[in-house]
Amino acid sequence: LNYLTPKSRLEVLDLLVTGLKRLEYRGYDSTGVAIDSPDSKNIVMVKRMGKVKVLEDAIQEHFTGGEYSEPVATHIGIAHTRWATHGEPCERNSHPQRSDEGNGFVVVHNGIITNYNDVKTFLRKRGYEFESETDTEVFAKLVHHLWKTHPTYSFRELVEQAILQLEGAFAVAVKSKHFPGECVAARRSSPLLVGIKTKTRLATDHIPILYGKDTDSGKPQVLPRSDSTSEFMPLEEKEVEYFFASDASAVIEHTNRVIYLEDDDVAAVRDGTLSIHRLKKSLDDPHAREITTLKMEIQQIMKGNYDYFMQKEIFEQPDSVVNTMRGRVRFDGNAIVLGGIKDYIPEIKRCRRLMLIGCGTSYHSAVATRQLLEELTELPVMVELASDFLDRNTPIFRDDVCFFISQSGETADTLMALRYCKQRGALIVGITNTVGSSICRESHCGVHINAGPEIGVASTKAYTSQFISLVMFALVMSEDRLSLQQRRLEILQALSNLADQIRKVLKLDSKVQELAKDLYQHKSLLIMGRGYNFATCLEGALKVKELTYMHSEGIMAGELKHGPLALVDDSMPVLMIVLRDPVYVKCMNALQQVTSRKGCPIIICEEGDEETKAFSSRSLEIPRTVDCLQGILTVIPMQLLSYHIAVLRGCDVDCPRNLAKSVTVE
Ligand code: G6P
Repeated sequence: LNYLTPKSRLEVLDLLVTGLKRLEYRGYDSTGVAIDSPDSKNIVMVKRMGKVKVLEDAIQEHFTGGEYSEPVATHIGIAHTRWATHGEPCERNSHPQRSDEGNGFVVVHNGIITNYNDVKTFLRKRGYEFESETDTEVFAKLVHHLWKTHPTYSFRELVEQAILQLEGAFAVAVKSKHFPGECVAARRSSPLLVGIKTKTRLATDHIPILYGKDTDSGKPQVLPRSDSTSEFMPLEEKEVEYFFASDASAVIEHTNRVIYLEDDDVAAVRDGTLSIHRLKKSLDDPHAREITTLKMEIQQIMKGNYDYFMQKEIFEQPDSVVNTMRGRVRFDGNAIVLGGIKDYIPEIKRCRRLMLIGCGTSYHSAVATRQLLEELTELPVMVELASDFLDRNTPIFRDDVCFFISQSGETADTLMALRYCKQRGALIVGITNTVGSSICRESHCGVHINAGPEIGVASTKAYTSQFISLVMFALVMSEDRLSLQQRRLEILQALSNLADQIRKVLKLDSKVQELAKDLYQHKSLLIMGRGYNFATCLEGALKVKELTYMHSEGIMAGELKHGPLALVDDSMPVLMIVLRDPVYVKCMNALQQVTSRKGCPIIICEEGDEETKAFSSRSLEIPRTVDCLQGILTVIPMQLLSYHIAVLRGCDVDCPRNLAKSVTVE
């Protein structure tokens, strides 16, 4: 929403498309945009199936002619990149969705409206015909219906009334030709923020929350709370640009000042004034929403000299692991401080058990560190996939400590599991990479992994940083255990060498590329290991599946003889992790079982381990580190391997088919 300096519609479109490109990693099935027509009386939409580039080309074709290059004082545009949940990816199902043929109300939406069928039936009875299979279309039509039946309602009230009827998860932004110069956005469960760009410094760093209904004039009425909100000034900037977005990366090149909206907040902009409303007032609500200053830099979300974001992120790991430890680990004094959790450590030490909950790669970081957590905390540690945890209605107690691990901090399953545990009185610890995310805000305490923005859909550097964060937590928990000091020193020592060792592993890149050439035409890849490296097998197989669409399975070497061995023959590609740790002998057994079935595995072993290497003509040697950190060094060749296979197979590395970076739907 631009009230800053006059901009042409073409400039506004350019801004929207750039914003979509920054968000494309979240979904890339189809795209769309809506802006005002040159006479500002109508709304023009362009929608395309496919990635943002296709939309960009369509915009260039569609919006030609001088009228679109005329500067206009106030302008509002909305745009969307979609990851299909309801209805196949196609132009008809892409957003914005509209209320009627005249584009009276147009809406972009993330999330799922679960009761959309009921709302559809209600609206059909009132003469509405639906043109898409999306749940989103009911939103646009419901707002339209409310507008027809309640002509005195303000735009914001219409949206508020609509969301009262809806169930599920949504972040929406709505534009209307009946309310020119205005835009309304709202959220429940799906992330949404407001970016604010002004010429001069903002006079306030909080926006008061307004409650209750509008007066007849349509002006929002501030219902003063008993303890008065007068200290917070409403934001009434005359020269301002507002951005509604589901992720800060879409706005960071314009402003670093943002407000993270909370569930059931409705944000409205009208005549350059931003207001935030809540329909219902509850006692523990804060009076205002804070304007936060982001630390993110634009370079962090650019590809630089790399071909893909994923490749950049793999190669960033020597730095990202250091950033995770920065200011927390003091190698000289062997001290570790986790500021976001330290006050809760005594309570955590008294707990009944630790639960580690996440999805996808984040779940694997829990699998990777479970054994060390058990060893250093001497507590029972349960590791759970968020979806399965919820399906089972797992019993949770007040003295449980539940960790929610999530790169984005927005994964719907993880967030629901968090709320489930919070409701039952457990202590909630968030391990996230996204400051201000829902998981971060709803946790009692936590650790920011500080890996920097991760754009590639397949997670890489976030995994190694989650891993290190959990290791640091285990070290904090064992600080005062005399019997564990030797072990702690060994781990701290290894942490201090980790960045250099990762650099060494990354030098295997061209060797891994050669291996990829051997493998990329195969149908399947089995990845075997056990102990501290089992998580690498799961994570490696996930990377291969996500990026290359090849079948891959992470196999616990101890289970080999209970089934997977039947898959092994001279043509089945197998990769085995065999390191000199307490399970070495058992891994060697598995290796022999594979070779005696004519399997010729690729071996990941320790530098200079000639004996193990002798079992195969193809091996990757990694530096020696303490057993519990091996998983960080062994996962990197797997990240590189899946990357190179994907490139060789011609797959879209950063945007694998059917996937999205942040899955904000159940
Ligand atoms: C999606 C992504 C995965 C990620 C998982 C959990 O499936 O494609 O890369 O591991 O979500 O995401 P989170 O943000 O919670 O770590």
